[in-house]
Amino acid sequence: MLTQDELKAQVGQAALQYVVPGEIVGVGTGSTVNKFIEALASMKDRIAGAVSSSEASTQRLQALGIRVFDANDVGELAVYIDGADEIDGRGCMIKGGGAALTREKIVAAQSRQFVCIADESKRVAVLGNFPLPVEVIPMATQRVVRQFAALGGQASVRVRDGRPVVTDNGQHILDVRGLEIRDPLGLESTINQWPGVVTVGIFAHQRAQVCLLGTPQGVQTLKF
Ligand code: 5RP
Repeated sequence: MLTQDELKAQVGQAALQYVVPGEIVGVGTGSTVNKFIEALASMKDRIAGAVSSSEASTQRLQALGIRVFDANDVGELAVYIDGADEIDGRGCMIKGGGAALTREKIVAAQSRQFVCIADESKRVAVLGNFPLPVEVIPMATQRVVRQFAALGGQASVRVRDGRPVVTDNGQHILDVRGLEIRDPLGLESTINQWPGVVTVGIFAHQRAQVCLLGTPQGVQTLKF
């Protein structure tokens, strides 16, 4: 029986086949992506570099000798490779468990193809069991909490060591429980309109086109 860590390593390795030699690859954030970054080191001399979705991934990439470009200094990327907290049957995802959702969405939007790498525990029929991360400007927190309450969601500020988590962008994260997200595209559009919301962790507009799913029987390729 493979451990969850081994399933993550499996899909991290499998994602290499989507990296286009000579080009810049978009790199996400999280423990599954960390496995991909380790695997990417084996072809670092065959890629131009990476655009990274977090300070944490940037540090890992640079430590392995992979050049990291500013998103503003490059054009469209061929592929973005990232994990997910949940992924449904259409490639829509919940992301942001690692608080990097805003930069993740930016790099995903800059890429032609989103390849999601995940172990099979992330595959769901309906999004929403995993608390939905939302990056908010601190001044708007309580207002946004009330807006979620009106939708039946219980939002709370993500805290670490007794203090609100501060993102790479200097903002806070709300985690919203109790939502059953049957219309990811519609809900993402709605929440995007709320003043003070920087990014909602529903990735429907930036959904995955491919998911490499780690299972005990091997890597399954899902196409959406
Ligand atoms: C970070 C993310 C991650 O992709 C998501 O949390 C999955 O992480 P992991 O691979 O560690 O399970 O969205 O903001």
